[in-house]
Amino acid sequence: MPCAWPSSATTSSDSTSNQAKIDELAAGRLPIFEPGLEEKLREALASGRLLFTTDTALAAHHGNVHFICVGTPQAKGSDAADLTYVDAAVTALAAHLHRKCLIVGKSTVPIGTAGRLTRLVQETAPAGTAVELAWNPEFLREGYAVQDTLEPDRLVFGTASAWAHAQLAACYTSIIDAGTPVVATDLATAELVKVAANSFLATKISYINAMAEVCEATGADVAELATALSYDTRIGGRFLKPGLGFGGGCLPKDIRAFAHRAETLGVGQAVSFLRQVDAINNRRRQRTVDLITELAGGDVTGVQVACLGAAFKPNSDDIRDAPALDVARMLHEAGARVTVYDPQAMPNARRAYPDLDYADGLDEAVAGAGVVALLTEWEQFRQADPAVLLELAAAPCIVDGRHALDADAYRAAGWDYRALGRPVQIGAPPLDFESDLAEARLDLPVAEHSNVRLP
Ligand code: UGA
Repeated sequence: MPCAWPSSATTSSDSTSNQAKIDELAAGRLPIFEPGLEEKLREALASGRLLFTTDTALAAHHGNVHFICVGTPQAKGSDAADLTYVDAAVTALAAHLHRKCLIVGKSTVPIGTAGRLTRLVQETAPAGTAVELAWNPEFLREGYAVQDTLEPDRLVFGTASAWAHAQLAACYTSIIDAGTPVVATDLATAELVKVAANSFLATKISYINAMAEVCEATGADVAELATALSYDTRIGGRFLKPGLGFGGGCLPKDIRAFAHRAETLGVGQAVSFLRQVDAINNRRRQRTVDLITELAGGDVTGVQVACLGAAFKPNSDDIRDAPALDVARMLHEAGARVTVYDPQAMPNARRAYPDLDYADGLDEAVAGAGVVALLTEWEQFRQADPAVLLELAAAPCIVDGRHALDADAYRAAGWDYRALGRPVQIGAPPLDFESDLAEARLDLPVAEHSNVRLP
């Protein structure tokens, strides 16, 4: 998981290391699902240039650059980031640093952490002020980790000296040579870039979901709205997908930790909108449950609901703060008979939610369902044949929580298709704009044709 992954790190610490995971990695097996990463791991092990260890002294002796990539989850009972793992890793490493070297933080941390850790390291490491600290935030997305790491949009080097910058540049030579922009900053700015980026992405998602709420009250269609907005290159279509909203181990806890840190710095008002972003996002989960309940006739008690998806996004087995499982849990608590299926996240989901029922496949999940709910947009679900699913289900009711299915195809197959922010169309044929426009074109003088633009 990007918020907690080791990369080319030589770092470990007694209090944060997990021998079982290290053994798995050393044997070339990934403890998580991430497309393409296991192949890379095996290539690196075969080269003889990658070593996994829980021996901090060995790691300290080995490296001139030490990447700290441990997680910073939300602290229990608070919105703040829990820095226990970062502090433990840096403290354990510092005790063994006897020569000039660079510690590089990749974890997502509150502004000011790098400065504090610099003082801690320089006071405790045997090499003293010869040890420097840099911050080099990570922007990879789960499911695209390999691609995002090897071809990032940008690199951010937060350093306190030209020497530290040169060390980082040497680590990323091939990526920089490929033309990737490098933004050089101070430590605090580098820390801020990461939380600012995640906050912006979260805001964009909540913005379109806020528009979905307005659409629900007015009969407008948020899918068409998003398409129309996306053609404005100043807005763009990425992270403008409406639906169940964001989850995972990063965006939700990062916006909370940022708002919390800003409040402690006395600038809470500047980012108070992030509380709204969080609230809009959380409302999507309840609204999805409401829509499923509506389709179930107003009460889900005893109704079999097929929950398609458990991971917080496709191509991942990560269920941290997964909207899909939150919806499944709420339905279960409301009395529904919930059956969950996910192509990769089943073991994690079973461990975290042992009370839910699980199916071994898509067909088994849908069989006998009174309502089908698409909650994570895996390709397998997108490609499913609506006519085949209809044969399996007990009732033709589907909620597309991710705006990922072809609404017209589902309606044509006989489903009552619903998605948050989209108008209900029972039996009404979709408007055929394409042929209307084609007819209009025939009536237009030739010179005007070029002004007609279809989405
Ligand atoms: C996010 C950022 O995108 C990465 O740049 C960052 O490095 C990472 O957090 C991190 O901090 O480590 P990630 O959490 O892997 O990456 O996943 P995203 O692709 O950002 O998706 C987050 C959530 O937003 C998912 O639940 C997804 O379903 C949802 N989402 C995304 C939407 O609801 N609508 C969209 O248009 C896009």
